[in-house]
Amino acid sequence: MIILGIETTCDETGAAVLERKNDRIIILSNVVASSASLQAKYGGVIPEQAAREQIKSIIPVIEEGLQISGYRVQDINVIAVAQGPGLIGSLLVGVETAKTLSLVWQKPLIPVNHLIGHFYANFIQVPSSKFLVPSFPCLGLLVSGGHTDLVLFQDHGKYKYLGGTRDDAAGECFDKCARLLGLPYPGGPEISKLAQKGKDTYNLPRPMIGSKDFDFSFSGLKTAVANLVQKTNHYKLITSHLAASLEAAIVDVLVEKTIRAAQKFKVSQIMVAGGVAANRKLKKELGARTEELGIKLFIPPAEFCTDNAAMIAAAAFFLKPAKNPLSVQADPSLSLAS
Ligand code: KG4
Ligand code: ZN
Repeated sequence: MIILGIETTCDETGAAVLERKNDRIIILSNVVASSASLQAKYGGVIPEQAAREQIKSIIPVIEEGLQISGYRVQDINVIAVAQGPGLIGSLLVGVETAKTLSLVWQKPLIPVNHLIGHFYANFIQVPSSKFLVPSFPCLGLLVSGGHTDLVLFQDHGKYKYLGGTRDDAAGECFDKCARLLGLPYPGGPEISKLAQKGKDTYNLPRPMIGSKDFDFSFSGLKTAVANLVQKTNHYKLITSHLAASLEAAIVDVLVEKTIRAAQKFKVSQIMVAGGVAANRKLKKELGARTEELGIKLFIPPAEFCTDNAAMIAAAAFFLKPAKNPLSVQADPSLSLAS
């Protein structure tokens, strides 16, 4: 079984070819063209511009993905595409391209929820590593630029939504605070780099850390950082300490709530997904807590945490094709809760 995956939900254009061999999902190619450097100039993603970049990149990226894989079009069994959530202009480029290819090449089309796709980065066989993938039941923590969700997976395609952010996502909080500190977009990796030189001294709030539900809230934390930046004399603000304090506050909340959910639902496996899963401190802290408790922790390699098409293709191995490819529609507001 060979799947071509396509991902265009935001500012990354991705195409990947994956093959399943003896139950192992192997990557043959994974091409990502990002317009992030362009977005960095403006401090964030401009939807119109991201969509225009998608149009420029989509065909070359698919061609490159196929070429690197060593397979020809006729070898591909299925096309998978991220259907949403995301920016409508960007999504339309991937979805309409995938529908067209499905029709012209006569291949089934599998629409994939981008958020579920993130979790499937954990099911990809990484070269030179032992083949270890999550089994069920498994708690899932999704921490991306737009989402912070806790989900209890009972099986492939069978999950219960436990809670999510009521306002900003963890990644969004990193990005917005980075902007306040004059750091480039995307802010998460920048804050994390700066945090390594600082200490958690600013005593920032840990929003909703004690609440009994599995919801999150990060907009108050962003406001606390904004207030500090505004009120503190420019020369007195130690940005590395502020970065370390912000990272510690976000990681504390994520770790605490995830561990509490794992204990409540008595799971012995946790998988983390999304761009913020690339964060070193989160890996370290969650790694330490899960080890103490004998819980197996899965976090994809950093390159599969941020948006890519390999995770979309990986998820598609466990999903069914659409009855009519032409009926597949881009859905910017697809969620895990619905
Ligand atoms: O999953 P993703 O690539 O895109 C979405 O689907 O949203 O996540 C992007 C987010 C951004 O907010 C970015 O700042 C954050 O992931 N991110 C990080 C790190 N790498 C990416 N946040 C903290 N630490 C990192 N190392
Ligand atoms: Zn994403």
